[in-house]
Parts: sequence; structure tokens; C-alpha cells
Amino acid sequence: MLTRKKTVRLEIRNDRVREHFSVVIASMEGFLIQSVHDTMPADLLVLEIGDDTGQDFDYLTRARSTGKAKDFFLTSKTTSPDVLIQALRMGVKEFIPQPINEVELRKALLKYRDGSDLAPAAPKGPQRKGQIISVLGVKGGVGTTTIAVNLADSLVRLDGQPTVALIDMNRLFGEIPLFLSLEHVFNWVDISKNIARLDATYLTGILYRHRSGLRVLPSPDRVDDDKYTVTPQVIESMLRLMRTMFDYVIIDGGQAVDDISKTILRSADKVLLVAGLSLPCLINVKKLLKIFRELGYPPDPWVEVVINRFDKKSVITLREAEQSTGKKAFWAVPNDFNATMSAINQGKPLSMVEPGAEVTEAIAEMAAALAGRQTGGGREKEKEKRAFLGLKLY
Ligand SMILES: Nc1ncnc2c1ncn2[C@@H]1O[C@H](COP(=O)(O)OP(=O)(O)OP(=O)(O)O)[C@@H](O)[C@H]1O
Ligand SMILES: [Mg+2]
Repeated sequence: MLTRKKTVRLEIRNDRVREHFSVVIASMEGFLIQSVHDTMPADLLVLEIGDDTGQDFDYLTRARSTGKAKDFFLTSKTTSPDVLIQALRMGVKEFIPQPINEVELRKALLKYRDGSDLAPAAPKGPQRKGQIISVLGVKGGVGTTTIAVNLADSLVRLDGQPTVALIDMNRLFGEIPLFLSLEHVFNWVDISKNIARLDATYLTGILYRHRSGLRVLPSPDRVDDDKYTVTPQVIESMLRLMRTMFDYVIIDGGQAVDDISKTILRSADKVLLVAGLSLPCLINVKKLLKIFRELGYPPDPWVEVVINRFDKKSVITLREAEQSTGKKAFWAVPNDFNATMSAINQGKPLSMVEPGAEVTEAIAEMAAALAGRQTGGGREKEKEKRAFLGLKLY
């Protein structure tokens, strides 16, 4: 299928790293390593960013303007946000951190060779329409991030491996990087800075690839340039694009109801309100349901209530909660502080840390129900479980 091999030029000072690149590239079809003495423009230039990052970025600017190569990969020991952001601004295709992760390097090269790995979702052909699910806490600390992260992780594990993106919309200091051990990743401020370039290829490059297969977009972890604030327009464009790229887009919406969250609500196909069985939570569920009605959002089943930290012995029963809010709970996720805390502390989803725990299964079953799939235990088992919790069966 490949018509012409892509020429790759390696400008890497560190001998071992250069050797590593050479071996990997030589083992792959469709590439030809170019000699450094060759004056022909290369398809791809892999450039090492050393200690003097300023000098190396100047070199990159010159190499690009003189047409030394069409595309660029950078590799570096330094993965500081500044270097990553600058790399992004300069439109490099991939950033390969050192020490080299061979699997990631192969994936990056394959993606480069074959075009965007999300190419089928590109504008050609029928537009794929994914579901946007916004997870909103009715109060701080009710487990919104726990539900959002593990829901996304459960969806990506469903048969047929749906494509799933997880976005952190907590305005500042979102915690998804902590929940999934992500380091130095781009966040949505970078998107607003580069809004003119926003397309599937750009977004694919910017989203963090978690090893579960999830794509993640965290929130900013610092307050930088005020001039790049995230506007509702940016969010809207981003969500519109993501819907064409992924089967599911899960949003950790935190708890605020401001202009940004209203935009998210407008785009969302489903809103999950996370609440605990406590009076303040239930009061807020009622308030939010009223706000949604007043804002003209579609009623049932657009918004669903998820009771987190569910405990059969709690003072307020599920039935009482449903009566007071006037809404049946969609799902109840059992209380298991040890499992959720150990997942957070290890920076891994529950499926990796506590695969058999009830809390893990409950979220996985909720994901299956949201995706319209039959769960592992069969309908009868599910019916029993639902009846036991006093929930409806989907
Ligand atoms: N089902 C559960 N059972 C027991 N504890 C839970 C459960 N879900 C979450 N928790 C615990 O609640 C705490 C808060 O969780 P999490 O950070 O997910 O909440 P949040 O609503 O996103 O908080 P914030 O408002 O700070 O963003 C964590 O310590 C977590 O372990
Ligand atoms: Mg949170």
C-alpha cells in the first residue's frame, strides 16, 4: 500500500538514544534513514532538545523555514511543560520523552506513517457522532472525579473497544492527572491558544494516551497567561470536534454552574448528577434539577442521578432520597473508601487496583448500561441486583 518510503533524519547528540531510534526505525516498514550528510529535504527530522533549549528551538525554527524537513519529532530528557508547550506551538508532530519507551515510539512512527490514527473519524464519509456524558457533582467531594475517571475506564474496556476521551473541566487544579498518574501533559488552555489549528490531527497529538487506551485532556495545573482564557466558544468547538472523533466523551465537570458548564450542558447528551445520601446533597439535587428545567434542558432521561458512596444502612434510604428529589436514582455506587482511596493513591483506575470489588463492578455495570450493553451477569442477575437496591432496570 505504501507508495514511497518516508525519509527520516536523526539529529540526536546522545549516541545511545540515536542508536535506539535507528534500530526501531530500521525494523519498521516504510521508513528510510537518511545520512546526516544528505542535503535532500527529509520527510521527518527527529531533533534532540538538549540542555540549551533556546538554542535548539532556534535551530528547529531555521530547519523548518529552510525546508530541511517537512515534519518534526522532538526528543528530550526534559519534559518540562515549557518545552512541551513550545514544541506544540511550533507544530511538531510528536514529542518522544527520554528514556525512550519503544512501544510509544513505534506507535508514534506508525501514526506518522499512516496518517492520523483517528483518520476514519476525519471529515470524509459519514460523521461519527459520539456521546458526550457530563459528570457533575452536586457538592464538592462527593466522588465526581472517581465516577468520571472510572466510568471512562469502564467504557474503554467494553467489547469492541470504543474510543473514549476524558476531559477535566474543573477550572483549576483538576485532579485527573493524579488519578491516572499522568505527567506533564497538555491541557485545554493549550487548545484555546491554538484554536485556529483545532482539528482531529492536532487534538490527537495533544490528548494524553493513557495505557488503558483512554485519551485524556486535563485542566491547567497553574495559572498562566490570562489572555488565553477558555471561552464557551472554545469549549463548544472542541466538544463538537471530539464528538466526531470518539464514541464517548466523558467530562469531569466539577460542580460549578457557570457559562462554561452551561456550554457543556448544551453539548451533553447525558448529565450524571453525582450525589451522596445526605441532606445537603439531596437539597442540591433538587436545586439543580430546577435550574436545568428553568434553563430549558430536556427532562428525563437527559439528566440522571447517581448515588455515590451508597450504603444500605445509611440514615436516609434510597427510597426517601428519591421521594424527596422526585427523581429515581439511575445507579447506586457502593461505599468503599479503601478501594477508591487505594486507586487514587496508586494513580490507577479501580479496574486495575480492585478488579473484583463491588464498587468497581457497579461503575462498570453503569458504563455498560449507558452504552446500552448487556452486563456480564445477565439480565436476571442484574434485575435481582437492581430490585435489591430499589432501582429501575434498563
Ligand atoms: N464510592 C466511594 N466509596 C467510598 N469513598 C469514595 C467513593 N467515591 C469517592 N470516594 C472518596 O471520596 C473522596 C473524594 O473523591 P473525589 O476526588 O472523586 O471527589 P470529587 O467530588 O471529585 O472531589 P472535588 O470536589 O474535590 O473535586 C476520595 O477520598 C475518594 O476516595
Ligand atoms: Mg474532583
